[in-house]
Amino acid sequence: MTATTARNRMLGHVITAEQFDRDLLDVLFARATALAGVRDDRLAHRIMATLFYEPSTRTRLSFESAMLRLGGAVIGTEAARTFSSAIKGETLEDTVRMVSTYADLILLRHDEAGAAARAAEVASVPVVNAGDGPGEHPTQALLDLYTIERELGHVEGVRVAFCGDLRFGRTARSLALLLALYPGVRLAFVAPPVIQVGGDILSRLEARGVECRLAEQLTDVIDDVDVVYQTRVQKERFTDPLEYEQARTAIRIDGAIMRQLPATAIVMHPLPRVDEIAPEVDSDPRAAYFRQAANGVAIRMALLEMLLA
Ligand code: ASP
Ligand code: CP
Repeated sequence: MTATTARNRMLGHVITAEQFDRDLLDVLFARATALAGVRDDRLAHRIMATLFYEPSTRTRLSFESAMLRLGGAVIGTEAARTFSSAIKGETLEDTVRMVSTYADLILLRHDEAGAAARAAEVASVPVVNAGDGPGEHPTQALLDLYTIERELGHVEGVRVAFCGDLRFGRTARSLALLLALYPGVRLAFVAPPVIQVGGDILSRLEARGVECRLAEQLTDVIDDVDVVYQTRVQKERFTDPLEYEQARTAIRIDGAIMRQLPATAIVMHPLPRVDEIAPEVDSDPRAAYFRQAANGVAIRMALLEMLLA
């Protein structure tokens, strides 16, 4: 697929990882590699609006950086729950209708699953899902997959252990759906029952022929992995404090775990981390999470170019 065909197919919204296919991913990753480090004005006079109803460091700032590196402009509200007219009772739909007339693209983070799809229904410009509650985080999945390809040199046949909060964590869900596009991928979901992955995702993966297994301890699968994808327990999504306590310290990666991890495997994490990866792990060359976060700028430049150029 050429970059132009890909661009034509991308016109529209980015709501779920399931809208991507291999051809589109190949074009996007090639563009990300070509755009890394670029600063020009190909998106001059284009405006991105960021509407964030939930906190963010990486997603908002790497999208803003990507837009500015390509010569575009950014407007936005980073605490939309309190600093936009949402506090006066305005609906998401009305806000999105209005902002569609102020900007060429809306980047939306919201605390409800399905919010990005709702916004896309009424928007007259592309809506990009920057995380919708426990739903999905498709652009994080793009940068995660790009990181796996760059770190390991391939995605086919890769063995990934997802760890931590697989019940509320949206990044693991979106990445698992993207990995399902690659033959021979094997996935392990490592978590105590209270935060184990939902049956909905498992059945979607199994319907696509992905080999999945469940475990409670990382040590049960550690000999058989290329990627450990650790995640934060999503404290803000628990309604039962007892369940949160059961989940909180479930899986921690420290020096002892790193000694058992194969020499060629990597550790990823969408960040922010709290205490699920000990700081002593950071200096290990297999700790890929800061390189992973840095890849977010190039991936988001490629995505913005496809949506807006
Ligand atoms: N930053 C990621 C997200 O927004 C992961 C996390 O918050 O734990 O989904
Ligand atoms: N990975 C991620 O989405 O980080 P933020 O929540 O800081 O945007």
